[in-house]
Amino acid sequence: MNIGKIANNGSSLFQSIIPRPIWNTRSQINFSRAFSQTEKRSKADAIQKQRLGKVLKNLVEFHKSQVAINQESRAIALREAEEQAFREYNWLMEEVKLDTTKKYETRKTEKVIELAQRLSNGEPLSYVLGNQPFGPLLIKCMPPTLIPRPETEALTEYIFEQLRDAFREHIHRQEGQMRPLRILDLCTGSGCISLLIRHRLLELISKETSSQSQSPAFQILGVDIADSALQLARKNLALYDTDADHGDLVSQYGHLVPVSFERGDMLDESKFCDFIAQHGPFDVVLCNPPYIPAKEWKELDASVREWEDRLALVGHPDNESDGLLFYRRLAQSIEIHELLALSKNGQLPLVAMEVGHDQAEKVREIFAGQKKVPQLEIWTDLFDKQRAVIAKM
Ligand SMILES: C[S@@+](CC[C@H](N)C(=O)[O-])C[C@H]1O[C@@H](n2cnc3c(N)ncnc32)[C@H](O)[C@@H]1O
Repeated sequence: MNIGKIANNGSSLFQSIIPRPIWNTRSQINFSRAFSQTEKRSKADAIQKQRLGKVLKNLVEFHKSQVAINQESRAIALREAEEQAFREYNWLMEEVKLDTTKKYETRKTEKVIELAQRLSNGEPLSYVLGNQPFGPLLIKCMPPTLIPRPETEALTEYIFEQLRDAFREHIHRQEGQMRPLRILDLCTGSGCISLLIRHRLLELISKETSSQSQSPAFQILGVDIADSALQLARKNLALYDTDADHGDLVSQYGHLVPVSFERGDMLDESKFCDFIAQHGPFDVVLCNPPYIPAKEWKELDASVREWEDRLALVGHPDNESDGLLFYRRLAQSIEIHELLALSKNGQLPLVAMEVGHDQAEKVREIFAGQKKVPQLEIWTDLFDKQRAVIAKM
């Protein structure tokens, strides 16, 4: 991975999911654990250790090979690449629950070797492990659906916090039987945004009400053009519903926040218009669209380019396009096709759009050009990068 390049362009989609340790709960492991010399080993143990050592060496070599020859601060980048290889190796050990201080475990060793081989071939860690933490959820990941990014997670949590009071107010009014608040997750991919919002809503409902109401207080609809993404999103919903950690929330309150995933093409104006007429209007629209300009696609990190769906990344196949087509279509849907519900309170309706590293101002301009100019906010992430435009209509 070209770490310097990533630091410069600042767009998360340019890189694979490296920052797992900062956001997730997988524990950091003592690197030396795997190679503890304290125990006298059998011959089989020694062979196991040797094979694992080779696997780790290959992984280190792979990560170092991704650092460009002419990269600035190359020595630092190489050290970071090595550390990344160790982290990944230890996650694999943890995932497979292989403890090398215990006796030889053939099956587990073979599994670690197989997974490490996939990593050394450039496959992203989240595909190899089959999941990516997203808030308190573990979202199932399968190629080619986009792996959820940490900044999407942070933005989703931010939006929920922004709307917490409006949601709370609605829950209490709902006891007097209002229509459900409608939340639309456009370009849903793995369904991560829909599912995190639903999780937070269920938590909120569980604290705020003892309501015996049977009618939904909220409805969440995720939309995507790709069948592979929809299948994965539905799988993630089923996994969430049966997850032991969330079982109580779902069994008690799940019916109050139903989630569904449907096929839809945001760029097909007439069908999208029919879709809005059928399911809308919406109170909250969240959208992380494909926004990379076609001519920038080849600059993406190889693990992104070769593994993640181009359709999830590139805003328009035309080489001259600026990657902003989805935002223009969204603005048009609001202005012409009445995508949004009429104002409920000061916070709603709200539209939150994730944007590319240099697109926030341009997207703001698109929305500032509307007949009814919304209140516009640019959201910056933990690294001070402009990552989203939020429009309160
Ligand atoms: C950047 S990914 C976002 C995925 C997910 N929301 C996330 O944040 O991880 C964009 C998604 O848009 C979908 N997509 C691409 N073109 C679309 C279109 N015309 N209409 C609807 N969805 C589209 C892709 O299949 C992909 O899943």
